[in-house]
Amino acid sequence: SPPAIINPSVLSADFAELGKACRDAMDWSSDWLHLDVMDGHFVPNMTFGAPVIGKLRKHVDKPTEAGGKGTFDCHMMIAEPMRWASSFRDVGADMYCFHYEAAMTSVAAKEPADKDTSEKCSPKSLVRYIHELGMQAGIAIKPGTSVDVLWEILEAEDEKERPDMVLVMTVEPGFGGQKFMANQLPKVQALRKNYPNLNIEVDGGLAEGTIDQAAEAGANVIVAGSAVFGAKDPAHVISVLREAVNK
Ligand code: DX5
Ligand code: ZN
Repeated sequence: SPPAIINPSVLSADFAELGKACRDAMDWSSDWLHLDVMDGHFVPNMTFGAPVIGKLRKHVDKPTEAGGKGTFDCHMMIAEPMRWASSFRDVGADMYCFHYEAAMTSVAAKEPADKDTSEKCSPKSLVRYIHELGMQAGIAIKPGTSVDVLWEILEAEDEKERPDMVLVMTVEPGFGGQKFMANQLPKVQALRKNYPNLNIEVDGGLAEGTIDQAAEAGANVIVAGSAVFGAKDPAHVISVLREAVNK
């Protein structure tokens, strides 16, 4: 696997002090920051959108290289991922990770009258669009979605249509602090077997007790919300997570 990327989710931080949470996470030697955007439609919860992320950008230096330290990894748990991409780019998002399920059911994708828009909404075209906006592109799958939906896009002939990262959810998206679903790890194994250099992210229930199995399966981008922000010694937890992946 590629080197560990430890990616704390501020979902478990105090939302009234998000700027401090981001600065703290970087002080604890995080690599990236995971920003969970929820719209109350795709998932039964709401968080924040581009205006908040733009304010947070002022607390964390924009990475100098793609995927560098301070990468804002926006996990878009929203129904219309194409619609919001440019506004996230405008406020300094680095990674725009949309859900496969949302792209396939978005209004534009279901509107055959507007061919241009509906094509843009296919996962491949959405990845291309995100790249044209100058962001890295991630594609996420929920626990109920087969990993098999990803092979075609990972094999896209045009590299602009290939995602930079795949996110395998290890809980149902919507809330922090849920139980890790180990039955999702075969997806990670299958992806790693075929793509030794791909950034494979896992999100949900990652902690000191679950990291070893995730790392063994081949995950290298590790999201952790409650395990980091609920810890007595968050910097220690981050180093444990990192060592489990890099060993
Ligand atoms: C859940 C979010 C996660 C969440 C993980 O929908 O996508 O990023 O913050 O929280 P923990 O690490 O507590 O399971
Ligand atoms: Zn997330």
